[in-house]
Amino acid sequence: MLLTKGVLLILISVLRTFASQEPDPWTEAQSLMATIGKGINPIDIPHTERPPVAYTVSYEVPLDYHPDDEYQLFKRFWDAEATEEQQRLSDLLIESTDKYNNTDAAFTLAQCFLYQHYGFPHSKELAELYLNKFNEWTRYSNSTTLFQQGVMYSTGSVGYNTTDAPKGLLYYQRAARLGSIRAKQVLAYKYLNGLNVPRDMNRALLLYRELAEQIRHKYSDEQWNVIFPYTESFNIRLPDFDDGLLGPQLSSTKLSTIRIKSARPDITSSVLTKMRGGDIMLRFNNVDESSSFALGSDLEDNDDQIVDLFYIAWDEYKGTYTRARDCLKARKLLEFSVEEFDDDVYNMESLQRYFYSKTLDLLGHIYFTGEGLSAPDLSKAEQYLKRSVDIIKDVMEIKSRAHIDLALIEQYHHKNVSQAMLYYQRVQNSRVNTGIVEYQMAKIITEFNQQHLGDPFLLMQTAYMKGYPPAFYEFAKMTEQGVNNKYNTEDTVNIFKSFVENSESIMAPELKTAFGELLMGHSETALWLYTEVAEQGFERAQISAAHLMYQIPYKYEAAPQTPDQRKLMAISYYTRAFKQDNIDAGVVAGDIYYNMGKYENALSLYRSAALKYSSQAVWNLGYMYEYGLGVPKDYHLAKRYYDEALEFNKSLLVGVKLSVLKLKIKAWYEWFSHGDSFISTSAHKIMESMPVLLYLQRYLEDVSSSTRVIHRTVVENEYEADILNNLRYLGRAETRHHTPNPDSIFKSTTFDYGDVFPMIIIVCLFIGTFAMRAFTQRNNWNVRVNGVPINRRAPQQQQGQEQEQEQQQQANPPAGNFDIQMFAI
Ligand SMILES: *[C@@H]1O[C@H](CO)[C@@H](O)[C@H](O)[C@H]1NC(C)=O
Ligand SMILES: *[C@@H]1O[C@H](CO)[C@@H](O)[C@H](O)[C@H]1NC(C)=O
Ligand SMILES: *[C@@H]1O[C@H](CO)[C@@H](O)[C@H](O)[C@H]1NC(C)=O
Ligand SMILES: *[C@@H]1O[C@H](CO)[C@@H](O)[C@H](O)[C@H]1NC(C)=O
Ligand SMILES: *[C@@H]1O[C@H](CO)[C@@H](O)[C@H](O)[C@H]1NC(C)=O
Repeated sequence: MLLTKGVLLILISVLRTFASQEPDPWTEAQSLMATIGKGINPIDIPHTERPPVAYTVSYEVPLDYHPDDEYQLFKRFWDAEATEEQQRLSDLLIESTDKYNNTDAAFTLAQCFLYQHYGFPHSKELAELYLNKFNEWTRYSNSTTLFQQGVMYSTGSVGYNTTDAPKGLLYYQRAARLGSIRAKQVLAYKYLNGLNVPRDMNRALLLYRELAEQIRHKYSDEQWNVIFPYTESFNIRLPDFDDGLLGPQLSSTKLSTIRIKSARPDITSSVLTKMRGGDIMLRFNNVDESSSFALGSDLEDNDDQIVDLFYIAWDEYKGTYTRARDCLKARKLLEFSVEEFDDDVYNMESLQRYFYSKTLDLLGHIYFTGEGLSAPDLSKAEQYLKRSVDIIKDVMEIKSRAHIDLALIEQYHHKNVSQAMLYYQRVQNSRVNTGIVEYQMAKIITEFNQQHLGDPFLLMQTAYMKGYPPAFYEFAKMTEQGVNNKYNTEDTVNIFKSFVENSESIMAPELKTAFGELLMGHSETALWLYTEVAEQGFERAQISAAHLMYQIPYKYEAAPQTPDQRKLMAISYYTRAFKQDNIDAGVVAGDIYYNMGKYENALSLYRSAALKYSSQAVWNLGYMYEYGLGVPKDYHLAKRYYDEALEFNKSLLVGVKLSVLKLKIKAWYEWFSHGDSFISTSAHKIMESMPVLLYLQRYLEDVSSSTRVIHRTVVENEYEADILNNLRYLGRAETRHHTPNPDSIFKSTTFDYGDVFPMIIIVCLFIGTFAMRAFTQRNNWNVRVNGVPINRRAPQQQQGQEQEQEQQQQANPPAGNFDIQMFAI
């Protein structure tokens, strides 16, 4: 009795407390979140919901950064821009977190402030606050948030704060133990490179292999063996939208931006002429008015349409950086093309027939893979692929990619391996082979024990080197088992690493999110996302993250104003990328040190890059010696470096010749006038800015320096409306819009007298020489300079000649001649 009474009392008191307190607002927050929506990646926005004519995507990257600016933006959002729903959601989540210790609310808040979910502004400070709470409350048991906090400590919240690498490491380790694949990849990368941990190959191998196994098991056997799924890759370096880290001509790393919208091939280019054996008349754009195929006066001729349709379909099939792929649309376009032009195949010129064959090939491939269909249709696929091969068989020596799919159908569907082998061998040595041929051959040889057909190990190695993803894994397994008695732990680790990094859709889907955020103008969020992936060891993400933190200024611009921690973080990523064989990144890291006035550090990076044959680095070394930056001034050494830079890369010819000439004049001038002291004081001004060649190189590039925001505009002319009705074309080419700003070229040029004087002399020399040439030629005099007759070989500027050669012709003779005659010191 007493007991029940007591229980009742307790019950009542519990009920009372419930009644007196409002319920946890988390449930209301949840329904609000459902109405607001987390946000959609602009890349995924359906085409139909876009503006009908042109869809322009641009992204802006502020040059300067200061934590206070971030706070101002944050404040402005909540003061003025936030919608009522957002305000309410924020209030509810905060209340739920603070009053009810609701872990889900804390988690949501942390994610909102990190990734701008529900349109919240980015805030590193608040994200950290709520991550901390969440981790404490969940006793450090959630691998997602542990990984995020690991990134925070290792990078000092991306240069927001000082870094605490040991603490970051602890978080990564715990996250990895709880099964986070991203944390495992971070650790593997750290062990491989000895970052914050002692270098340990075996641990790196263990981790990378474990990841590789996990990835392998995510694919079905059919995907693995027959059709490896296509990935819309966003694994790019952002500066590659602008011709690479060092700009056009000077960057030595291959561009990573391969999925930009297809430019229609330049029909007059030599590539196409070669492709067709050079024996076909080019008749593009010569619209034949009498053509019976003219569908309307505003239409280009039909042959054009085959090419156009193919490229539009190809873009839809592969997807570009600003829009997701659409296989259904691609298929419809291709089918339209086939319906329209199939009857005319044998009247087509070779070029059109070639593109028509590609059309059939892609259509067959789509039916083969079943992309954008409910299921693959092998018989239809085979029919298209065979026709694709047939129609060009007798006209061209081109190896059609269709052979590969045909072989796969023979091998896995008809089980006729000998026929498959025939197809494979036909395209083995052609450009269309991405390594899949060797991969399948190695499999066949192993399975049917046909060693006389080749060595599976070597074939798999070739497949790996050609970049076929499953071959990375298979080859790593082979090397690990010591096939052919060649075992090397480091090599094996690196192959596993490449495989893991190749599996972007599993290991780093954030790359796509990151680019989407950038397109939406959320550069700090994009930076955070790139940083997460950079920590995992992706070289391109390291470049992108570093690029968002610190951009090398163009022309005479002042260096970005950012806290030193952020600069150091950028240097750290550039250096990591440099260690992964991105030579340009080493130069850029050196340039940041240079701009910070840390010449010794800059020098050592330039030296490392010079050892890897970076001509820009060698040139910079010469510059450092010329001005005595971080080293004693030494003109002889400077000249040697300038000459060496020329040896590495002839495209530096003009820059080098001028520098060397300038150097000589300068040495002479110094000796003649004041000696060293005068130059060294005035050289200070130069030190504040960048080496002269970088000026030259960036001279023509745009940037609006007044707003201190770099605009990168990616414009896509949208192919909208009803495709099948409207065949009118359509500019393409994903181009960046440059807004040249001539003013800035002349801004704040700080030369010292030591430079101005030689420059004037050089200019006089040029003018003098050309004047003399013209004069002697006209009068037909036979004048010799340094024993070389100059009137016979006046430089002729031929059109279409490479610019480089042109410059060579102009710059070489005067520099050479006068150099010796007048300034032999
Ligand atoms: C929430 O957690 C704090 C300690 O972090 C504790 O003092 C407080 O009593 C908790 N509140 C509720 C409602 O559980
Ligand atoms: C971490 O916690 C959040 C929120 O409770 C949850 O949605 C997520 O699935 C958790 N992640 C892991 C890996 O447990
Ligand atoms: C910044 O550093 C301070 C002091 O080391 C630390 O208390 C704080 O949590 C750090 N904040 C971030 C966002 O890393
Ligand atoms: C010089 O640099 C350009 C641009 O990066 C490159 O295309 C060319 O191959 C280089 N030449 C040599 C000899 O390395
Ligand atoms: C495989 O294909 C070849 C060549 O087309 C043919 O001669 C052979 O009979 C086929 N074998 C089988 C088992 O179908």
